[in-house]
Amino acid sequence: MKNFSNSLVTVIRELLCHVSLPCAILASVGLAGQVMADDLPLGLKPVPIPKDNPQTAEKIALGKQLYFDKRLSKDNTVSCASCHAPEKGFSNGERFATGVGGAKGGRSAPSVINSAYYRQQFWDGRAASLEEQALGPIANPIEMALSIEDAVGRLNRIAGYKSQFQKVFGTDANPDGIAKAIAAYERTVLSGNAPYDKYKAGDKSALSEAAERGRKLFFGKANCAACHAGANFSDNSYHNIGIGMDAKDPDKGRVVVSKLGGDTGAFKTPTLREIARSAPYMHDGSLKTLEEVVEHYAKGGIANEWLDEELFKLRLNDQDKTDLVTFIKEGLASPDYPDHKAPKLPE
Ligand code: HEC
Ligand code: HEC
Repeated sequence: MKNFSNSLVTVIRELLCHVSLPCAILASVGLAGQVMADDLPLGLKPVPIPKDNPQTAEKIALGKQLYFDKRLSKDNTVSCASCHAPEKGFSNGERFATGVGGAKGGRSAPSVINSAYYRQQFWDGRAASLEEQALGPIANPIEMALSIEDAVGRLNRIAGYKSQFQKVFGTDANPDGIAKAIAAYERTVLSGNAPYDKYKAGDKSALSEAAERGRKLFFGKANCAACHAGANFSDNSYHNIGIGMDAKDPDKGRVVVSKLGGDTGAFKTPTLREIARSAPYMHDGSLKTLEEVVEHYAKGGIANEWLDEELFKLRLNDQDKTDLVTFIKEGLASPDYPDHKAPKLPE
């Protein structure tokens, strides 16, 4: 399908649009060869694209530059990629994120991989979209610590940025354009086509024997798929699995946003794709390895008033635990990992 001419793709898109599929999604995925429906990694669903921010090659390229550009931080030392680094699973390999001047927050940097599929962003879901999320870290004093006005000013003084914003949005750089371009780039940071996807598509040899045993456990008695469900291994929902609940002053998580008492200590179910690359784990980075994660679930999480009912003591022997780790480690790692390199930045 990759060799289809653009016009043929357009015709097909038109046809499908008239049938039933949401045109907004189709209209945007076909553009400029980025995230073409035909190019979608095996196993993934079409990327949801907001109507007012269609994907174009120029916009994605601009967003990628912004994502890697340290000039969007107060002292030119931190970019999005500092905390969401491609070589570290689009996270930062540390328990907490480190921003300008070594400032640290209380939560770990989640992977950006497949974040396009989340219905809300952040561990507690307080941002409704990638666009809404994107400006936060620039201005956040413990992240990039640069006011948005200053960021806009800096970009418009760089000729190469000014002209790209003009080309893509028909205006100089402004907050809306910055957010849209970064979000468009993030929607290309995808991982699919893992051994699990090939297995599901019919290639029963794609998983090793150990990974196949682990897969059965994952979807069976280990109960992982109760929450890590669907193509992106996330139900897009919030659960208290006990992490951090034994701390003196636990992070309350989702309840602060939803105001629903039952969401106390609940956090968003993260994707498990490429998970072997982004240790340490959980919203507070408290678990160092996938083995520790499996132990956490095996003992039924950490008891507290709000523990999710899907958490309970699991009957897993040592072999089961190893197999489970093998499944998520090998089965969900793609040979087409989005190993993006920093692009050339405009002067
Ligand atoms: C200093 C480290 C740091 C920098 C710099 C940073 N982030 Fe983050 N990012 C985090 C942390 C920590 C969180 C989680 C915060 C929370 O959930 O409360 C996060 C969350 C996110 C999420 C939500 C993912 C999810 O699973 O919900 C996205 C998307 C994201 N960041 C993108 C960006 C972009 C784009 C930039 C640059 C404009 C950026 N980040 C800069 C640390 C950082
Ligand atoms: C009740 C829902 C639920 C079940 C069941 C569940 N998870 Fe999770 N999982 C979550 C949530 C929510 C988080 C994030 C929790 C936090 O950070 O406080 C998480 C986090 C993780 C992480 C860390 C991801 C990261 O990016 O840090 C891994 C790995 C993981 N789960 C694997 C599993 C495995 C393996 C199983 C089965 C043994 C399982 N999960 C069962 C909801 C669930």
